[in-house]
Amino acid sequence: MTTHSLLLLPGDGIGVETIAEVERLIAFFNAKSNTARFHVERDLVGGAAYDAHGVAVTDEAMDKAQKADAVMFGAVGGPKWASVPYQHRPEAGLLRLRKDLDLFANLRPAICYPALADASSLKRELVEGLDIMIVRELTGGVYFGEPKEIVTLENGEKRAVDTQLYTTHEIERITKVAFDLAKKRRNLVHSAEKHNVMRTGVLWKQVTTDVHKSYAPDVKLEHILADNCAMQLIRNPKQFDVIVTDNLFGDVLSDEAAMMTGSLGMLPSASLGAPDPKTGRRKALYEPVHGSAPDIAGQGLANPIATIASFGMALRYSFDMGKEADLVDQAIARVLDKGLRTGDIMQPGMTKVGTSDMGKAVETELRALT
Ligand code: NAI
Ligand code: MG
Repeated sequence: MTTHSLLLLPGDGIGVETIAEVERLIAFFNAKSNTARFHVERDLVGGAAYDAHGVAVTDEAMDKAQKADAVMFGAVGGPKWASVPYQHRPEAGLLRLRKDLDLFANLRPAICYPALADASSLKRELVEGLDIMIVRELTGGVYFGEPKEIVTLENGEKRAVDTQLYTTHEIERITKVAFDLAKKRRNLVHSAEKHNVMRTGVLWKQVTTDVHKSYAPDVKLEHILADNCAMQLIRNPKQFDVIVTDNLFGDVLSDEAAMMTGSLGMLPSASLGAPDPKTGRRKALYEPVHGSAPDIAGQGLANPIATIASFGMALRYSFDMGKEADLVDQAIARVLDKGLRTGDIMQPGMTKVGTSDMGKAVETELRALT
């Protein structure tokens, strides 16, 4: 039987509590005889690593991350570490993981569970059954391009520069991720850029068109201007399947799409690297979109669904366990249909539960489904 290696990095605050619920599901799968097994390693990251070792992530933990089939990350940060030296701040642990594993593809699904459609900022009929995947380029673009500086001019005025910069290779690899995903979904990719005003947009459009040739006619490609995309997401979000875009537009569009579906506590994500030339395996890190939530940490109040759904993405994208991933999603939907709610998604007439009861309920439904 296949054994997958998984590194758990719970981090700080509610990260510790929500990763514990993923461990519950790992134990469930490991106890079953007919699915792949998971070999689990654990380590510290963020403030927890700083307290123990004086750095936000150790070389030893990085080594484990490099070797693992996938990393499950909780969250990092909190007021306790507000004054640690800048290079050791908790977020530095996550940034090093992203950089050293070269995780250039950030996958942010926006899924609306029917039971939560009324909690959306949009009307139920617009979001019910919504299932979009935003693919954001994560390691290039204007957040990293050089020059990047603030200079003082001769007249005393200041001038700030950020540089938007993309190479053909960077655009190719991110759009391939998007087309591959669309092939397994509804065969539609929208590529969002601004070729009308940006040279990077012109190249983005050219390269996407070229990459598309080896996916046509099965997968359809639509070019859309990023500002129009933002508008269409609010007007009629269900017209989209996969949206691929650069780092900056992706930052904004993914947050916009995500918020249509309810709470931060519901939102998973994946960050993928390039496929290994020999094995085809991609380095990958899965994490909830939310942070360490210091305001509710340690009280058993956190919604574990974002982290559980991130584990579901690991099953799908790292372990080729699409069937099991579907079951995890169905188990989550059933728990919500039964009216169980953590505080962040609480609605009148529903049953309020804590972190571990929510995790246990997902496991119970999973057991019933398998
Ligand atoms: P946050 O996401 O931790 O919390 C924002 C609000 O949403 C809080 O009121 C929190 O209680 C609530 N919330 C978040 N996740 C929840 C969940 N699963 N269940 C129920 N309620 C939930 O963002 P915030 O407050 O801006 O940052 C707190 C700390 O987390 C900071 O140190 C920040 O730097 C860090 N952070 C870390 C991230 C990461 O590890 N990837 C991402 C975002 C923030
Ligand atoms: Mg953002």
